[in-house]
Amino acid sequence: MARRPEEDLLFAAATEHLAGAALVLDEGLTIRVATPQASALLGFDVPLGASAPRVLCGDARKRPVAEALSSGKPVQALIPRPTGPSENRFLKIRTLPLQLHEKLVGWLLLLEDAGNADEGGAVFFHGMWTQDPRLKELFRIVEKVAQDDGTVLVRGETGTGKELVARALHLQSSRRDGPFRAINCAALPANLLESELFGHLKGAFTGAHKDTPGYIQLAHRGTLFLDEVAELPLELQAKLLRVLETRTVIPVGAREPIPVDVRIVSATHQALRAEVEAKRFRADLMYRLRVIPLFLPPLRERPGDIPLLCEKFIESMNPSRRRHIEHLAPGALAALERHDWPGNIRELRNALEYAYAIGDGPTLLPRDLPPEFLDEQASDSPPLVAPRAVPDESLSPEARRIAEVLERAGGNRERAAKILGLSRVTLWRKMRQLGLA
Ligand SMILES: Nc1ncnc2c1ncn2[C@@H]1O[C@H](COP(=O)(O)OP(=O)(O)OP(=O)(O)O)[C@@H](O)[C@H]1O
Ligand SMILES: [Mg+2]
Repeated sequence: MARRPEEDLLFAAATEHLAGAALVLDEGLTIRVATPQASALLGFDVPLGASAPRVLCGDARKRPVAEALSSGKPVQALIPRPTGPSENRFLKIRTLPLQLHEKLVGWLLLLEDAGNADEGGAVFFHGMWTQDPRLKELFRIVEKVAQDDGTVLVRGETGTGKELVARALHLQSSRRDGPFRAINCAALPANLLESELFGHLKGAFTGAHKDTPGYIQLAHRGTLFLDEVAELPLELQAKLLRVLETRTVIPVGAREPIPVDVRIVSATHQALRAEVEAKRFRADLMYRLRVIPLFLPPLRERPGDIPLLCEKFIESMNPSRRRHIEHLAPGALAALERHDWPGNIRELRNALEYAYAIGDGPTLLPRDLPPEFLDEQASDSPPLVAPRAVPDESLSPEARRIAEVLERAGGNRERAAKILGLSRVTLWRKMRQLGLA
């Protein structure tokens, strides 16, 4: 049924009123309606009747967003502006399926200016908010490297978003329909880790009741995320190297190699190179794993993200909480900005959780923050008691951080573990490893 042009205009006006810059696509992804705001944002008159992936993502076939649209999946992503004054401008796009009688009849595509990659302006990328130029650049690199199968090593302190980056790489890649498997190499003893990673045959060891595929096989056609890869024991490093070189896996107790097609993304909070120098990590494996190294800056190096993350976390927490926070008292924000965030984003989230639980009323006050923030405020004035112990220079950066957090938590391991976002057991294990216990 053909509509008259005036009806199209009315419809576009109504859509604009409700959705701002938006496109209505039919099920074949042809653009049927474009609001004037969408044309203004894109910087050209949106051609009705044209293909949306083509208009938004150009002719390059390997654009992940275009692919997701073409395969009929809802997407939420950041794309470079198709045209415009600066190459670095990004658009946030979000698609909502339009259904009629439970049948997909088209898509509503919402567009939003996601700011400039070089200037202020917050962007959202696969669960991560930032206004930091370095992190924005990292998101752009993730978009690019996701498309080829390069082996990525993500480095960053605890709680900086390493796992989110690994997931983003998976979701932006052509493997997105395949499995994403994550395994923490620090969490299991060597023999268990071996069988979890490589699988085992029935009877390979006591308790091996049936053939069991390992994570490498389970990640076939998808992505395997090796968290805390520096903790992989040396003998398993040799086995992993073989997998990378031969693209096959031999389960424990088996002889025949099984072909596997996996992309490996690994993460570490420490420099692998230092581990290589200490002879705890194989150099050849390091080179294999860090073909593309990505570095996530810690929160203390991107202080502009603190108010932004507070705002976004509060926005998402408010609806489900007893307390409804509307603003941060200036003193509370100052305390948050002064803090050095050893547990990074996870610690920020925990601090807000604490404020929801402890305080009342619409204003988040300094006294709603966990005790270590109050200590820090107090330490601005001349110390009444002995000054804080000078951190021992002979400790590794990680050991020093943990020692600092422990001190701040008054030696309470449970609190320290919470700040660092670690389980008590993991903290204990790390303390022992680092010679702190
Ligand atoms: N930029 C961000 N915006 C919003 N939330 C974030 C951001 N970065 C991380 N987070 C959140 O912080 C928490 C920690 O992230 P994640 O688990 O990816 O960190 P990690 O580096 O893997 O930490 P760990 O080394 O302790 O495993 C998660 O809840 C994640 O959703
Ligand atoms: Mg992690």
